[in-house]
Amino acid sequence: MTSLVARPTALPEPRCPVSGADPQRPPAPGSVDPAAAQEFLEQFQAETSPAITLERRLRQVAAEIERTGTYTHTLEELSFGARVAWRNSARCIGRLYWNSLRIRDRRHVSAPTDVAVECVEHLRDSTRGGAIRSTITIFAPDRPGERGPRIHNDQLVRYAGHRTPGGEVRGDGRYAAFTDTAVALGWERPTPPGRFDVLPLMISGPTGGPELFDVPRDAVLEVALSHPEHAWFADLRLRWHAVPAISNMPLEVGGVTYPAAPFNGWYLGTEIGARNLADADRYDLLPVVAERLGLDMTSERTMWRDRALVEMVRAVQHSFDEAGVTMADHHTESGRFLTHVAREEKAGRSCPADWSWIVPPVSGGLTPVYHRYYTEPDPDTRPAYLQPS
Ligand code: ARG
Repeated sequence: MTSLVARPTALPEPRCPVSGADPQRPPAPGSVDPAAAQEFLEQFQAETSPAITLERRLRQVAAEIERTGTYTHTLEELSFGARVAWRNSARCIGRLYWNSLRIRDRRHVSAPTDVAVECVEHLRDSTRGGAIRSTITIFAPDRPGERGPRIHNDQLVRYAGHRTPGGEVRGDGRYAAFTDTAVALGWERPTPPGRFDVLPLMISGPTGGPELFDVPRDAVLEVALSHPEHAWFADLRLRWHAVPAISNMPLEVGGVTYPAAPFNGWYLGTEIGARNLADADRYDLLPVVAERLGLDMTSERTMWRDRALVEMVRAVQHSFDEAGVTMADHHTESGRFLTHVAREEKAGRSCPADWSWIVPPVSGGLTPVYHRYYTEPDPDTRPAYLQPS
């Protein structure tokens, strides 16, 4: 049996088996594995200096798990857990600032309407007119007998992909299926359908099916795109939202799962300029931009795609800079990431990283992150932001 026992001090075993410890009876969903709780509390103790001793806290938590099947993190534990989950995110190049993540503790919130209100508040609070702050809002966790709420959108702000009668998609091609679902649930798409229509939030509470909530326009800061030299670029009427806020990755800390825990950082220009607007199944704009640039598109060997791509990334960076909205560039951010890796090593930790996600999608070899390997991520590492189920 796994018990919440501080090593090396042995404590009395809990009087009856804690839930989940009996192999005959699978744990109820939402019940906490005591070993996971213990591992987290030991890490919390080792990296911070909480006032309470480890032994005492372990005893409290063991008793709470025994009584309720789960336990409640202190705000300090929760904050540490959310920050370390970011630190453990092998795909993220922006981890230098992991320790300054702002926590909005909304664990008492689980009704869809209230979750929606808090998501909108999250956007306002993290956007700050363009001076973006990395923020997470943590809603009610899964508990035995009661699930936490769930946000179905993969980000708080995303643009609809409207299928047209001709079989094409107007807007973001990646969200065509999500847009269909929203319409089936009663979303009235704007008329006429646009290329940058913000999707409604789709939220399920502890019981019941998903409900839709419109995101107020004034909670979504957007940047209209222009190019530093080519005036025609503005005529393309492109825009993008300022804040990337991932909303469908459960946060797992010390055995507790928080299924709704939207978090945001700020954009890297390449994410928008070299992927969202460029990918063939997203906005597919390279041919449009290349044509306006007057490039020879008769052969791949003219590198028209590459040239159009760089101009698009320039336009994105230029527009965000002009609008005073926080945005990183891939050269600077690559350098910062290596600073982070070095700091982690100095702290006696290795920094798991996924090369294919860390290296930027343009000019990879020009950035220092390209020219080395990283510690392979371990899928069992916790705390973590989990893949959506
Ligand atoms: N690549 C995603 C997007 O373009 C955002 C992922 C998170 N990015 C970030 N800078 N925090 O929407």
